[in-house]
Amino acid sequence: MIISGKELSTKLKAEMAGQVATFPEKYGRVPHLVVILVGDDPASVSYVTGKAKASEVVGIRNTTIRKPETVTEDELLSLIRQLNEDDSVDGILVQLPLPKHISEAKVIETISKEKDVDGFHPLNVAALWQKQPCTVACTPKGIIKLLKAAGVTIQGKRAVVIGRSNIVGLPVSKLLLDENATVTIAHSRTANLPELTRQAEILVVAIGRPKFVTADMVSEGTVVIDVGVNRDPQTGKLCGDVDFAGVEPKAAVITPVPGGVGPMTICCLMENTIECFLRRMSR
Ligand code: GUN
Repeated sequence: MIISGKELSTKLKAEMAGQVATFPEKYGRVPHLVVILVGDDPASVSYVTGKAKASEVVGIRNTTIRKPETVTEDELLSLIRQLNEDDSVDGILVQLPLPKHISEAKVIETISKEKDVDGFHPLNVAALWQKQPCTVACTPKGIIKLLKAAGVTIQGKRAVVIGRSNIVGLPVSKLLLDENATVTIAHSRTANLPELTRQAEILVVAIGRPKFVTADMVSEGTVVIDVGVNRDPQTGKLCGDVDFAGVEPKAAVITPVPGGVGPMTICCLMENTIECFLRRMSR
Protein backbone atom coordinates (compact mmCIF):
# COMPACT_ATOMS: atom_id res chain seq x y z
CA MET A 1 0.00 0.00 0.00
CA ILE A 2 1.28 3.44 -0.92
CA ILE A 3 0.22 6.06 1.64
CA SER A 4 -0.53 9.40 0.06
CA GLY A 5 0.48 12.27 2.30
CA LYS A 6 -0.91 14.52 -0.37
CA GLU A 7 -4.42 13.10 0.00
CA LEU A 8 -4.38 13.08 3.80
CA SER A 9 -2.98 16.62 3.98
CA THR A 10 -5.64 17.88 1.57
CA LYS A 11 -8.34 16.43 3.82
CA LEU A 12 -6.79 17.83 7.01
CA LYS A 13 -6.27 21.27 5.47
CA ALA A 14 -9.95 21.38 4.44
CA GLU A 15 -10.93 20.57 8.05
CA MET A 16 -8.61 23.30 9.35
CA ALA A 17 -10.05 25.78 6.82
CA GLY A 18 -13.50 25.13 8.29
CA GLN A 19 -12.15 25.78 11.78
CA VAL A 20 -10.24 28.94 10.81
CA ALA A 21 -13.34 30.33 9.09
CA THR A 22 -14.98 30.60 12.53
CA PHE A 23 -12.08 32.62 14.02
CA PRO A 24 -12.90 36.16 12.77
CA GLU A 25 -16.21 36.04 14.60
CA LYS A 26 -14.73 34.44 17.73
CA TYR A 27 -11.39 36.23 17.94
CA GLY A 28 -11.63 39.17 15.54
CA ARG A 29 -8.95 37.83 13.22
CA VAL A 30 -7.29 34.77 11.69
CA PRO A 31 -3.89 33.28 12.68
CA HIS A 32 -0.84 35.05 11.22
CA LEU A 33 2.30 33.16 10.21
CA VAL A 34 5.50 35.00 9.31
CA VAL A 35 8.05 33.05 7.26
CA ILE A 36 11.57 34.41 6.87
CA LEU A 37 13.66 33.26 3.92
CA VAL A 38 17.33 34.19 3.69
CA GLY A 39 18.95 33.97 0.26
CA ASP A 40 17.53 32.22 -2.79
CA ASP A 41 18.36 28.52 -2.57
CA PRO A 42 15.84 26.96 -5.00
CA ALA A 43 14.76 24.19 -2.58
CA SER A 44 14.14 26.72 0.22
CA VAL A 45 12.24 29.03 -2.14
CA SER A 46 10.03 26.12 -3.16
CA TYR A 47 9.37 25.09 0.47
CA VAL A 48 8.49 28.65 1.45
CA THR A 49 6.16 28.97 -1.55
CA GLY A 50 4.45 25.72 -0.48
CA LYS A 51 3.94 27.13 3.01
CA ALA A 52 2.37 30.31 1.60
CA LYS A 53 0.04 28.29 -0.67
CA ALA A 54 -1.08 26.03 2.19
CA SER A 55 -1.73 29.10 4.37
CA GLU A 56 -4.00 30.47 1.67
CA VAL A 57 -5.94 27.20 1.46
CA VAL A 58 -6.41 27.05 5.24
CA GLY A 59 -7.20 30.76 5.58
CA ILE A 60 -4.11 31.61 7.60
CA ARG A 61 -2.57 35.03 6.98
CA ASN A 62 0.96 34.52 5.62
CA THR A 63 3.71 37.10 5.43
CA THR A 64 6.90 35.95 3.76
CA ILE A 65 9.90 38.18 4.42
CA ARG A 66 12.86 37.70 2.10
CA LYS A 67 16.35 38.81 3.11
CA PRO A 68 19.48 38.68 0.97
CA GLU A 69 22.16 36.03 1.57
CA THR A 70 24.31 38.89 2.96
CA VAL A 71 21.94 39.82 5.81
CA THR A 72 23.86 40.03 9.09
CA GLU A 73 23.07 37.87 12.09
CA ASP A 74 22.29 41.02 14.10
CA GLU A 75 19.80 42.22 11.51
CA LEU A 76 18.06 38.86 11.44
CA LEU A 77 17.93 38.63 15.24
CA SER A 78 16.49 42.18 15.47
CA LEU A 79 13.82 41.27 12.93
CA ILE A 80 12.88 38.21 15.00
CA ARG A 81 12.74 40.25 18.23
CA GLN A 82 10.49 42.77 16.51
CA LEU A 83 8.15 39.95 15.39
CA ASN A 84 8.20 38.47 18.91
CA GLU A 85 6.86 41.81 20.20
CA ASP A 86 4.29 42.18 17.41
CA ASP A 87 0.89 41.17 18.80
CA SER A 88 -0.51 40.59 15.30
CA VAL A 89 1.98 37.73 14.71
CA ASP A 90 1.22 34.21 16.01
CA GLY A 91 3.93 32.12 14.38
CA ILE A 92 7.49 32.79 13.24
CA LEU A 93 9.41 30.38 11.00
CA VAL A 94 12.93 30.95 9.72
CA GLN A 95 13.58 28.63 6.80
CA LEU A 96 16.70 26.51 7.32
CA PRO A 97 19.48 26.07 6.38
CA LEU A 98 20.93 29.56 6.91
CA PRO A 99 24.16 30.97 5.44
CA LYS A 100 27.28 29.96 7.38
CA HIS A 101 27.84 33.41 8.94
CA ILE A 102 24.53 33.11 10.84
CA SER A 103 24.17 30.85 13.87
CA GLU A 104 21.07 28.68 13.48
CA ALA A 105 21.14 27.98 17.21
CA LYS A 106 21.00 31.70 18.04
CA VAL A 107 18.19 32.27 15.54
CA ILE A 108 16.12 29.39 16.93
CA GLU A 109 16.68 30.52 20.53
CA THR A 110 15.64 34.07 19.70
CA ILE A 111 12.21 33.11 18.37
CA SER A 112 9.81 33.26 21.32
CA LYS A 113 8.80 29.80 22.47
CA GLU A 114 5.11 30.78 22.09
CA LYS A 115 5.59 31.67 18.39
CA ASP A 116 7.94 28.78 17.55
CA VAL A 117 5.70 26.96 15.04
CA ASP A 118 8.63 24.70 14.04
CA GLY A 119 9.00 23.32 17.56
CA PHE A 120 12.77 23.86 17.35
CA HIS A 121 13.20 26.14 20.39
CA PRO A 122 15.23 24.44 23.16
CA LEU A 123 12.31 24.86 25.56
CA ASN A 124 9.93 23.11 23.14
CA VAL A 125 12.48 20.34 22.59
CA ALA A 126 12.95 19.92 26.34
CA ALA A 127 9.19 19.81 26.85
CA LEU A 128 8.87 17.10 24.16
CA TRP A 129 11.46 14.92 25.91
CA GLN A 130 9.70 15.41 29.24
CA LYS A 131 6.24 14.65 27.82
CA GLN A 132 5.07 18.16 28.63
CA PRO A 133 2.68 20.12 26.38
CA CYS A 134 4.73 21.65 23.56
CA THR A 135 4.85 22.50 19.89
CA VAL A 136 6.03 19.34 18.12
CA ALA A 137 8.27 19.65 15.05
CA CYS A 138 6.19 19.43 11.86
CA THR A 139 7.83 16.53 10.00
CA PRO A 140 7.85 14.10 12.98
CA LYS A 141 4.26 15.06 13.83
CA GLY A 142 3.24 14.47 10.21
CA ILE A 143 4.89 11.04 10.16
CA ILE A 144 2.91 9.86 13.18
CA LYS A 145 -0.33 11.16 11.63
CA LEU A 146 0.46 9.27 8.41
CA LEU A 147 1.15 6.03 10.28
CA LYS A 148 -2.09 6.33 12.24
CA ALA A 149 -4.13 7.21 9.14
CA ALA A 150 -2.71 4.14 7.39
CA GLY A 151 -3.90 2.01 10.31
CA VAL A 152 -0.38 1.02 11.34
CA THR A 153 -0.08 -0.26 14.91
CA ILE A 154 3.01 1.36 16.44
CA GLN A 155 2.82 -0.11 19.94
CA GLY A 156 5.24 -2.97 20.53
CA LYS A 157 6.85 -2.66 17.08
CA ARG A 158 10.56 -2.58 16.35
CA ALA A 159 11.14 0.85 14.79
CA VAL A 160 14.44 1.82 13.21
CA VAL A 161 15.07 5.48 12.45
CA ILE A 162 18.00 6.24 10.14
CA GLY A 163 19.19 9.77 10.89
CA ARG A 164 19.73 11.68 14.13
CA SER A 165 18.97 15.30 13.16
CA ASN A 166 17.27 17.76 15.49
CA ILE A 167 14.61 18.37 12.81
CA VAL A 168 13.57 14.77 12.11
CA GLY A 169 15.59 11.83 13.47
CA LEU A 170 15.62 12.69 17.17
CA PRO A 171 12.06 14.03 17.55
CA VAL A 172 10.45 11.26 15.47
CA SER A 173 12.30 8.71 17.60
CA LYS A 174 10.85 10.27 20.73
CA LEU A 175 7.32 10.32 19.25
CA LEU A 176 7.61 6.63 18.25
CA LEU A 177 8.83 5.86 21.77
CA ASP A 178 5.82 7.73 23.17
CA GLU A 179 3.63 5.46 20.99
CA ASN A 180 5.34 2.48 22.70
CA ALA A 181 7.52 1.34 19.81
CA THR A 182 10.96 -0.09 20.56
CA VAL A 183 13.18 2.44 18.84
CA THR A 184 16.70 2.16 17.48
CA ILE A 185 18.40 5.25 16.07
CA ALA A 186 20.88 4.44 13.31
CA HIS A 187 23.22 6.84 11.52
CA SER A 188 26.18 7.12 9.15
CA ARG A 189 28.52 5.27 11.54
CA THR A 190 26.15 2.43 12.46
CA ALA A 191 27.84 -0.93 11.93
CA ASN A 192 26.01 -3.54 9.83
CA LEU A 193 23.17 -1.20 8.95
CA PRO A 194 21.42 -3.62 6.53
CA GLU A 195 21.32 -6.27 9.24
CA LEU A 196 19.69 -3.77 11.60
CA THR A 197 17.20 -2.37 9.08
CA ARG A 198 16.10 -5.91 8.11
CA GLN A 199 14.86 -6.30 11.69
CA ALA A 200 12.74 -3.15 11.48
CA GLU A 201 8.97 -3.44 11.37
CA ILE A 202 8.73 0.33 10.94
CA LEU A 203 11.61 2.00 9.10
CA VAL A 204 11.91 5.80 9.02
CA VAL A 205 14.62 7.09 6.72
CA ALA A 206 15.90 10.66 7.07
CA ILE A 207 19.52 10.80 5.99
CA GLY A 208 19.40 12.86 2.79
CA ARG A 209 21.05 10.36 0.45
CA PRO A 210 19.23 9.50 -2.79
CA LYS A 211 17.91 5.91 -2.90
CA PHE A 212 20.14 4.89 0.02
CA VAL A 213 17.80 2.17 1.31
CA THR A 214 17.67 -0.69 -1.15
CA ALA A 215 15.46 -3.80 -1.32
CA ASP A 216 18.07 -6.03 0.37
CA MET A 217 17.91 -3.80 3.48
CA VAL A 218 14.17 -4.28 4.04
CA SER A 219 12.19 -7.32 5.16
CA GLU A 220 8.87 -8.38 3.67
CA GLY A 221 5.94 -6.53 5.29
CA THR A 222 7.87 -3.53 6.61
CA VAL A 223 6.29 -0.09 6.98
CA VAL A 224 8.65 2.33 5.22
CA ILE A 225 8.53 6.11 5.76
CA ASP A 226 10.79 8.06 3.41
CA VAL A 227 11.65 11.56 4.61
CA GLY A 228 14.28 12.23 1.93
CA VAL A 229 13.99 14.95 -0.67
CA ASN A 230 16.86 14.54 -3.13
CA ARG A 231 17.67 14.89 -6.78
CA ASP A 232 18.35 11.59 -8.49
CA PRO A 233 21.92 12.07 -9.80
CA GLN A 234 21.05 10.01 -12.90
CA THR A 235 17.72 11.52 -13.94
CA GLY A 236 17.72 14.85 -12.08
CA LYS A 237 14.22 13.99 -10.82
CA LEU A 238 13.04 14.35 -7.23
CA CYS A 239 13.61 11.17 -5.23
CA GLY A 240 13.66 9.98 -1.64
CA ASP A 241 16.22 8.25 0.58
CA VAL A 242 14.57 4.94 -0.36
CA ASP A 243 14.86 3.15 -3.70
CA PHE A 244 11.09 3.17 -4.15
CA ALA A 245 10.94 0.86 -7.19
CA GLY A 246 13.02 -1.79 -5.43
CA VAL A 247 11.52 -1.52 -1.93
CA GLU A 248 7.82 -0.97 -2.71
CA PRO A 249 7.08 -4.60 -3.65
CA LYS A 250 8.40 -5.79 -0.26
CA ALA A 251 6.86 -3.06 1.91
CA ALA A 252 3.46 -3.43 3.57
CA VAL A 253 3.12 0.33 3.49
CA ILE A 254 5.41 2.93 1.92
CA THR A 255 5.38 6.70 1.40
CA PRO A 256 6.21 8.10 -2.03
CA VAL A 257 8.50 11.06 -2.80
CA PRO A 258 7.09 13.50 -3.69
CA GLY A 259 3.59 13.30 -2.18
CA GLY A 260 4.39 11.43 1.04
CA VAL A 261 5.90 13.08 4.11
CA GLY A 262 6.45 16.52 2.49
CA PRO A 263 2.79 17.59 2.31
CA MET A 264 2.25 16.33 5.87
CA THR A 265 5.04 18.61 7.14
CA ILE A 266 3.31 21.65 5.69
CA CYS A 267 -0.05 20.46 6.99
CA CYS A 268 1.37 20.18 10.52
CA LEU A 269 2.88 23.65 10.19
CA MET A 270 -0.66 24.93 9.60
CA GLU A 271 -1.86 22.97 12.64
CA ASN A 272 0.98 24.32 14.80
CA THR A 273 0.19 27.87 13.68
CA ILE A 274 -3.46 27.42 14.67
CA GLU A 275 -2.39 25.94 18.03
CA CYS A 276 -0.05 28.87 18.75
CA PHE A 277 -2.82 31.30 17.78
CA LEU A 278 -5.39 29.60 20.03
CA ARG A 279 -2.97 29.50 22.96
CA ARG A 280 -2.26 33.22 22.56
CA MET A 281 -6.00 34.01 22.26
CA SER A 282 -6.79 32.09 25.46
CA ARG A 283 -4.19 33.93 27.50
N1 GUN B 1 14.32 23.17 6.45
C1 GUN B 1 14.02 21.87 6.19
N2 GUN B 1 12.96 21.48 6.94
C2 GUN B 1 12.61 22.56 7.68
C3 GUN B 1 11.58 22.79 8.64
O1 GUN B 1 10.78 21.91 9.01
N3 GUN B 1 11.53 24.04 9.16
C4 GUN B 1 12.40 25.02 8.81
N4 GUN B 1 12.28 26.22 9.40
N5 GUN B 1 13.36 24.84 7.93
C5 GUN B 1 13.46 23.62 7.36
